[in-house]
Formats: sequence, C-alpha cells, structure tokens
Amino acid sequence: MPNCKEVIVLLVNRISKKMKKRKNILQRILSLVTVMVVIVVLQTILFFIQIQHSAQFYQNNNSKELSIRPITSTKEVIGRSPKRILYPQFDLNNVYQNWTDTATLIGSSGETYRRYLTIGLVTAKRPQNTVYLYNTLSSLITNANREDFREIYIVILLSDLDQEWRTNITSVILNKYPQEVKNGTIKIIGSFDWMYPSLTNLTHHRKGHSKSKAKWKAKQNIDFVLLWLYVYKTKLSEFYLHLEDDVITVGGYTKAMKTFINDQKGEWTCLEFSELGMIAKLYHTHDLEALAKMVALFYQEQPADNTYLHFNPQMLQFRRIIRKPTLFQHIGMTSSQWGHVQSIKDRFFVANVQKKLSKGDNPPAKVLTNLKFLSKHSPENAYNTSFGYFWSKSKPKKNDYFRIVFNQPQAIQRIVINSGLDIFPEDKVYNAVLEISSKNNNRNDCTDYNIIGKFVNGKVDVQNVPYLLNTTEIRCFQIRFKNSQNFWAIIQEISVFLRR
Ligand SMILES: *[C@@H]1O[C@H](CO)[C@@H](O)[C@H](O)[C@H]1NC(C)=O
Ligand SMILES: *[C@@H]1O[C@H](CO)[C@@H](O)[C@H](O)[C@H]1NC(C)=O
Ligand SMILES: *[C@@H]1O[C@H](CO)[C@@H](O)[C@H](O)[C@H]1NC(C)=O
Ligand SMILES: *[C@@H]1O[C@H](CO)[C@@H](O)[C@H](O)[C@H]1NC(C)=O
Ligand SMILES: *[C@@H]1O[C@H](CO)[C@@H](O)[C@H](O)[C@H]1NC(C)=O
Ligand SMILES: *[C@@H]1O[C@H](CO)[C@@H](O)[C@H](O)[C@H]1NC(C)=O
Ligand SMILES: *[C@@H]1O[C@H](CO)[C@@H](O)[C@H](O)[C@H]1NC(C)=O
Repeated sequence: MPNCKEVIVLLVNRISKKMKKRKNILQRILSLVTVMVVIVVLQTILFFIQIQHSAQFYQNNNSKELSIRPITSTKEVIGRSPKRILYPQFDLNNVYQNWTDTATLIGSSGETYRRYLTIGLVTAKRPQNTVYLYNTLSSLITNANREDFREIYIVILLSDLDQEWRTNITSVILNKYPQEVKNGTIKIIGSFDWMYPSLTNLTHHRKGHSKSKAKWKAKQNIDFVLLWLYVYKTKLSEFYLHLEDDVITVGGYTKAMKTFINDQKGEWTCLEFSELGMIAKLYHTHDLEALAKMVALFYQEQPADNTYLHFNPQMLQFRRIIRKPTLFQHIGMTSSQWGHVQSIKDRFFVANVQKKLSKGDNPPAKVLTNLKFLSKHSPENAYNTSFGYFWSKSKPKKNDYFRIVFNQPQAIQRIVINSGLDIFPEDKVYNAVLEISSKNNNRNDCTDYNIIGKFVNGKVDVQNVPYLLNTTEIRCFQIRFKNSQNFWAIIQEISVFLRR
C-alpha cells in the first residue's frame, strides 16, 4: 500500500501535467484569436480604403456609364427634377370606387365566373391605320383547343383616347365575334385620361431615348399597369398571359401551355412562351398587383419588358423559364410609335413548314438574289422541291430580284411560284413581275427579260410559257419587285415544269 506522501506526489504530478496540457490549449487558442483579430482589423482597413477609392471613382468619373447609379449622378438627378413623380401616388380605387366598371366599354350579358386563363393585350393606334389586332384575335380563337376555349377570357385594352378609333375597333370586333363578346369571352376595356400620371414632364429616362420615345414607353407602362390591375381586381382567372396586339400563335397552343404549366416541378413566378419583349409572359393572377406596382414605380425609367426581368427574381425565380419551341410570334412591322419599324422575330417559334404544293421538275440551276436572308432560309430552299422556304431579312425594294439561272437552256411549259406562309400570311411578294429570258449575259444573269406574269395575292402561275416567248431555250427567269413593300418576303416554292 503506498503511503500518503507518494499519493500526494502522484496527484500533484498528474494535476500539473493536466495543467500543462490546458496551458498548451489555452496558448493555442490565444494565438488563434490574435491572428483572427489581426485579419479582421486588416480587412476593415482595406474595406475603408476601397470605399474611399470607389467614392472617388464615382465622384470623378461622370462620363463613364455605370450599371450602378453613381452617387454624384443621383445628386444631379435630384437637383434636376425635385418633383420626380411617383406613380401610383394614388390608388385607383380611392379616386373612383368602381373604376373597373367605368373601364368596361362593352359589357356582356354572360355571367362572369373564374376561368383558367385570361389573355390580356393592349392595342393602340398605329400609323396608316394598320391593325394587326384582328389577325391576332383570329389566331387566338381558331388555334385554341375547343375544350379549353370555354375557360379563357380575352381582355383587350384600347389605350388610345380617340373616340372614333375606339368605335371603329369595337364595332369590327362586335361584328366578327358577336358570340364571344356576348358570352363574355372577349372583353373590351378602355383607359381614360385621369388614370394616367403626367406624361409630359418626363425628366428621368434613358439617355438616348428621344422625348417622344420616352413618352411612348412611359404611357405603355401605364397601359399595362391598368390592364393588369383590371384583371387582378376582377379576379377573372387563375392565370394571366400577357400578349401584344401583333402576334400570332400555333394550333393547340392552349393545351401546350396547360401541359407546360402542369409540368413545372417547383414554384414559379413567370413562364414565358416567347422570348421577346412583353410577349406571352404568364403570371399567376394574384401576382399581378405586385407586378403592376413595380412597373408603375419605374414607369418613367424602364419599359415593362425590362422591369419584369427584375420582378421575377424579387419573387424568388432566379432564371427565365422559356418554353421552347415558343408558341407566339411577332408579326407587327409598324409599331404604334409613329414611324418606328419593328421586325423582331422569335428565334424559337415553331414554324410549321408547309409541304410544297406542286412538285416541279426544277432542272439544275443557280438561285440568286440581292435580298438579305438568314442562312436557314436560303434562296435554294425556295427552288428545292421537298424542303424549306426562302425568307428575306430585309424589305424588298423596287428592282430587287430573285433569280433562277439554269445550268442548261430549258424548254419550259409552266412556272408556279407561291409566296407567304400560313403562319406569316403577310410576308409575301406584293407588287412584282415574273420575267424570263433566253439570252445569256454572263454566268449569273441574262439580258432582254420579258414579263410573262404578275403576282396576284402572293402567287403567280404561268401555264403557257413557250407560247408567250416562242422559244424553247430559256436560260433565266426572275421575280422582279416593282415597288418597295412593308414586309419581308417568304418565297415558299418555285416549281418549273418542263415541256414533254
Ligand atoms: C475614369 O475612367 C477612366 C476610363 O474609364 C479611367 O481611365 C480613369 O482612371 C477614371 N478616373 C478616375 C479618377 O478614377
Ligand atoms: C359599385 O359597384 C357595386 C357592385 O356592383 C354597386 O353596388 C355600387 O353601387 C357601385 N358604386 C358606384 C359608386 O357605382
Ligand atoms: C362563347 O362563344 C363561343 C362562340 O360560340 C364559344 O366557342 C365558347 O365556347 C363560348 N364560351 C362560353 C364560356 O360559353
Ligand atoms: C374609322 O373607320 C372609318 C371607316 O372605315 C374610316 O374612314 C376612319 O378613318 C376610321 N377612323 C379611325 C380614327 O380609325
Ligand atoms: C411641366 O414643366 C413645366 C416647367 O417646369 C411647368 O410649367 C408645367 O406646368 C409642367 N407640366 C405638368 C403637366 O406638370
Ligand atoms: C433539297 O434539300 C434537301 C435537304 O436540305 C437536300 O438534301 C437536297 O439535296 C435538296 N435538293 C436540291 C435539288 O437541292
Ligand atoms: C415563233 O417562231 C417561229 C420561228 O422560230 C415563227 O415562224 C413563228 O411565227 C413564231 N410565232 C410567234 C407567235 O411569234
């Protein structure tokens, strides 16, 4: 048995060993803490240096456009426009309790019940009385699946205050779709002067936008806002699809949209059925008020088709969800802003390529044109008997041509040319002639062309070519445009039948 002393020594030894261990650990912790403190201090110093640096940068560099609004520039803006108007500074319901009733231009006898989808679009006056709206409506109505059509509202906001124009548009729609208006499927609403904030003293908009463009964009923002608030307030449907008044769609688009909606695995805010502008963006109707208010807040600064891209992430959707192929295509060439020409087309739209109607013999030839085109829609496509079509990327002007130069002289019986496509009926050949020649000039052209036909409604069909020219040695023929036209040209097929 160990004595008391030994035990004590043993204990003291153990305790001191433990203490040493503790001391070691403590020392380590202390040194770690010291290092961390040093790092934090350094970082803080660096941070302040950076702030100062960037402040200097912002202050001294007014010329440079920055994505973040520079400090000095904000001061400038405040100085320039102390009364920058915020809209809505009022709630339409406060101004006019039943403003949605007032906005309704044509009511329906049918009962309003909650449907699956509302399709909303704003239409405004365009130059030269061009109206695409009727094509849009017809495309929407004929291409909807019948069983889905009962679950749809189409709301059209007439945003021009010209009463005669409003009456014109309304009466045409009433004439074309009496049943749809009667049972409430088509609703026509209008905006009124008092619903708009000031559009005359816009001080804060993108550099490079002219005054008229800034005004036009600002007004369009408010038009959208009014339409969205209307749909939100009347609780028409579960979903809302925003369209423009110059688009067309494809057969069965409602079913395709439903499928895409049902296929979404996670939460979403916005589904897109076109990649362009404010075309074919789908929202939950209950989100429309928030969207409307955000667009309204920045109605001077940003067009809605930019703001929605910032709205979606705020609503926790951080990537765009675009259905490809897309279901809606832009057809308008004259925007409602006077003189402004738009020709943007969606790259992913399902262009249902039509079968060639009349297969010709089409002997080997060169196909030449001075029109611009996309490689996907090359001139050869028009002459090919089985595949594709030609689509110009510019609007044909007077004396532009589309030419076939045969490798060998040919005896031709008949030439058939069809332009335009079902889905782009406007992109056809308008005022043009068909000419043939039997005199080679060089390898790419002929001289002494004779006119043998004229395009009527985008088509030409000359059945007695040899009689007209009295020759069997045809070397070239061409489409020659007699006038400039407002649309791009699609040449769907060129069929050449040889004499037997
Ligand atoms: C201002 O910007 C220019 C070019 O972006 C740059 O070279 C210059 O150093 C900047 N000036 C200051 C004071 O930061
Ligand atoms: C607003 O509409 C409600 C319900 O349709 C109606 O009862 C009320 O009288 C209307 N108020 C005004 C001021 O028109
Ligand atoms: C409204 O009328 C159109 C045309 O007759 C019809 O196709 C549609 O199903 C009707 N909708 C309702 C909800 O009755
Ligand atoms: C309304 O229609 C009439 C007849 O079609 C036409 O003459 C007139 O220019 C149109 N007015 C407007 C403002 O569109
Ligand atoms: C626009 O600004 C001018 C000059 O600052 C002012 O006289 C005018 O009343 C303003 N108009 C509107 C509609 O605010
Ligand atoms: C027509 O197009 C198809 C597909 O691109 C191609 O294989 C074929 O060779 C073309 N025919 C002619 C006559 O160019
Ligand atoms: C066609 O040409 C032949 C000779 O090449 C001539 O005899 C005949 O009269 C011509 N016919 C017409 C309609 O010009």
